[in-house]
Amino acid sequence: MTQAMIGWEAETAVPAGHRFNDYLREKNGRLHLHTPHSDNTLDLADLFLGDVGVGRSLPSPLEIIYLPLIRQRIERMRQVFAEVSAEVGYNGRFHYTYASKANAAEEVIRTTLGAGAHHEMSSTVDVDIARLMVQRGLLQPDKMVICNGFKPAGSLYSNNILRLKDNHANTIPVIEDLGEIAPLLTSGKRFDVGLRQKSYGHNTTEAEMEEANSRFGLNLDGLWRAADYLSAAPNLTLKLYHYMVGSQLTDPDDFLGRLKPGIEIYARLRKRHPHLSIFDFGGGMPVAMTLDFNFDYHHFVRLLLTALQETCARYDVPVPDVMGEFGRYTTSEHGAHLFKIMAVKENGSKLPWYIIDGSIMSSFPDSWALSEHFICLPLTHLNQPFQQVQLGGITCDSDDVYPPKPSHSPLYLPIETDDLYIGFFSVGAYQEMLGGVKGSKHCVLPEAVELIVDEENGRFSFQILPGQTPKDVLANLGYT
Ligand SMILES: Cc1ncc(COP(=O)(O)O)c(C=O)c1O
Repeated sequence: MTQAMIGWEAETAVPAGHRFNDYLREKNGRLHLHTPHSDNTLDLADLFLGDVGVGRSLPSPLEIIYLPLIRQRIERMRQVFAEVSAEVGYNGRFHYTYASKANAAEEVIRTTLGAGAHHEMSSTVDVDIARLMVQRGLLQPDKMVICNGFKPAGSLYSNNILRLKDNHANTIPVIEDLGEIAPLLTSGKRFDVGLRQKSYGHNTTEAEMEEANSRFGLNLDGLWRAADYLSAAPNLTLKLYHYMVGSQLTDPDDFLGRLKPGIEIYARLRKRHPHLSIFDFGGGMPVAMTLDFNFDYHHFVRLLLTALQETCARYDVPVPDVMGEFGRYTTSEHGAHLFKIMAVKENGSKLPWYIIDGSIMSSFPDSWALSEHFICLPLTHLNQPFQQVQLGGITCDSDDVYPPKPSHSPLYLPIETDDLYIGFFSVGAYQEMLGGVKGSKHCVLPEAVELIVDEENGRFSFQILPGQTPKDVLANLGYT
């Protein structure tokens, strides 16, 4: 098995001008962040050691939110679908939808909506967020709001969706369970509705799908019954079929293989229910979380659109519009955490310990809970020799380490540790939501200052959000 490439993998200095990926590159021994297709670069170490235009140097640790990357990733995916649609003569449209569970921060939702994405949600507070965005004029009437997740009759979420319909007509509840239809029916309001089919996992045949052990979606029998209820309901219309098969699926052929049974069922359902027009493959679109990532988006979209064309032609139904609910893909790369190496410890362990001034496990919990890899690079001394090291967080927890246990990926950092700062990149999806915002963290470490970076007319703009003070943490724990 190949091991994930999480950083620089040599003892020699990084060559001048080296590009690690399309937004991180070496310049004058420092790591610079830049927007793809722009000459604007941000010297990350200068946030601590100088003044990049923020007005002062900032404290470590520091969280970076880099909004241009969100827009760029949305634009790139739209372009891929447009190019492949033109190439294969696909007649349906593509609907880019942001799955807000990946990161529900205001600046993120504002950015995805500003980039023209549709919106996907999963809970009652999400509905409140959508309503606020409607009131602010950011969630426009033509944008679909896809309501996934469990919403049993009488639940806060179900009731809130019914109310949202009055603020935003283009609200589309996706049925998880048959009991969710009754509140929509009795509301008397006109709803376009989606049906989610149980499919999650490596299930490639209908028989396997039926047996899949998943709490999400309807089985086949439930799906057909739900579709018939909807067509009998005077105020409900079946518009969308939802078939999600996994997350971070890095093999295009495997991704398509998992989707194929759903494409077949879409076509059969469409034959009987002519208002059905959207095939929603949910999440799963992968994104670079390490430096060895190599996914051919064009190839995957070509496989998907041609499979839809072939299957729909076989059933003599029109091809659907295609929707993806992009969570990780949209937000992973816009988030980074920067730390200072505050101590180096050589205690006979197999590699020297570099201790950071924060916590790995509470800043991006998936590294500890799922052994997830993220990109880790120095911000200073890139033009000097490196050595293999291990990183330790400042908590007293033996799992607060990187590379994660039981990874075999080597981590190399500069031998020079004076003013050595490092960054973890591609941590913008799910990590903050899982670790929690504010609150009290492991070993009562206060939350870092956050810097939101945007770009306007070719110039960076900065917004600083204060971190937690020790007083905030104490008050949160009841020490008033
Ligand atoms: C219904 C639904 N849609 C979309 C997503 C986003 O998935 P991803 O982050 O893989 O894009 C999820 C993630 O759990 C989901 O449950």
